[in-house]
Amino acid sequence: MQSLILLPFLVASTWATGVLLPLYLYPSAVYNDGAANWKPIFSAITANPSVNWQVVINPHNGPGLTGLPGDNDINYINGTAQFNDLPHVRTIGYVRTLNGQAPLSEVEANITTWAKWNNYTSSNISIHGIFFDEAIEPSGVSNGANLAYLTNATNFARQMFGDSTVTICNFGAKPDPRYYSICSEIIVFESCLDNNSGSAVCTTSPLPPQYENQTTINTNIPNTAYASQAAIVVHDFVGTTYNGLQASVTTLDSYVHTLKANAVGWAYFCSGEYSSVTTGPATIGALGSAVAST
Ligand SMILES: *[C@@H]1O[C@H](CO)[C@@H](O)[C@H](O)[C@H]1NC(C)=O
Ligand SMILES: *[C@@H]1O[C@H](CO)[C@@H](O)[C@H](O)[C@H]1NC(C)=O
Ligand SMILES: *[C@@H]1O[C@H](CO)[C@@H](O)[C@H](O)[C@H]1NC(C)=O
Ligand SMILES: *[C@@H]1O[C@H](CO)[C@@H](O)[C@H](O)[C@H]1NC(C)=O
Ligand SMILES: *[C@@H]1O[C@H](CO)[C@@H](O)[C@H](O)[C@H]1NC(C)=O
Ligand SMILES: *[C@@H]1O[C@H](CO)[C@@H](O)[C@H](O)[C@H]1NC(C)=O
Ligand SMILES: *[C@@H]1O[C@H](CO)[C@@H](O)[C@H](O)[C@H]1NC(C)=O
Repeated sequence: MQSLILLPFLVASTWATGVLLPLYLYPSAVYNDGAANWKPIFSAITANPSVNWQVVINPHNGPGLTGLPGDNDINYINGTAQFNDLPHVRTIGYVRTLNGQAPLSEVEANITTWAKWNNYTSSNISIHGIFFDEAIEPSGVSNGANLAYLTNATNFARQMFGDSTVTICNFGAKPDPRYYSICSEIIVFESCLDNNSGSAVCTTSPLPPQYENQTTINTNIPNTAYASQAAIVVHDFVGTTYNGLQASVTTLDSYVHTLKANAVGWAYFCSGEYSSVTTGPATIGALGSAVAST
């Protein structure tokens, strides 16, 4: 059957890289302002309807302390409902694992609280997956030490949300490949563009790795079979690249184009760490159009 032979090729050649946005920015500037701080994101989504988006909702290093959505915060409730009103957006709940040292009972309790968002009736704040942050082993080198832990944690998420739910594990570095059969998506790089840029997180010793375009992809995703599950996050897209180019929209477009050519599943670039979506050159609008057009 010819179509069976052609299918993998077609999937690879038309793979659309999506945006994985760790949204640690508070939704509102003023109480009940319709999530004004998130408006640039809603606009970028609306302006780029071909792009798939995953938005990690994070009221309080997790779903909130009281069991109510974002501690019953109308700003989170309104902003999350606006995401759910837009096409091609998956809202994802943030859960931290503290390098696999957070008690599983606490991780499971937080996943349960996220699942309650799906039972909320006043507006649609349903959540479509869990983002497990700080998933890398305490050694900082991924060697499989958290395999049992993440198996339990991701199984629990599937139990609460259904078998097809998305489980995103943030290693921030090259993962032990066994994690690809446990987590549906893995952040394989989370760092800076320039470790000499003046940004505090990028210049603090020990210096973090720089993003190096194709070299980072080859090193951190050595098996191309895993590319569609992999995500790259560059949270300080400022200064100068490893090979002396300026951080610019042109450089951003080229990097996103290269991620797409390598069939990398998900990407995020921002210029103001996670606290701004409007700092350039990698604004959310520039990223949305880079992913849509390149
Ligand atoms: C969000 O809040 C704004 C301003 O109060 C309101 O107009 C809008 O209908 C709300 N949207 C949702 C989805 O709740
Ligand atoms: C669970 O969520 C609470 C509230 O959002 C947060 O303070 C706590 O750190 C989270 N615990 C884990 C293990 O993720
Ligand atoms: C809530 O929003 C999600 C995401 O857009 C959608 O899949 C789901 O069908 C909506 N639920 C209801 C009850 O409208
Ligand atoms: C959501 O509601 C259903 C139906 O009432 C219930 O079975 C389920 O336990 C609820 N989920 C949570 C997390 O409370
Ligand atoms: C994972 O769950 C299994 C079965 O419930 C249990 O035996 C095991 O100890 C758990 N692993 C961890 C790391 O908690
Ligand atoms: C930045 O990181 C790279 C590794 O990615 C390293 O080779 C380089 O020396 C670092 N830059 C500085 C200024 O230390
Ligand atoms: C990134 O790497 C690709 C593939 O080698 C190359 O075509 C592109 O020009 C590079 N981009 C930049 C900004 O160096």
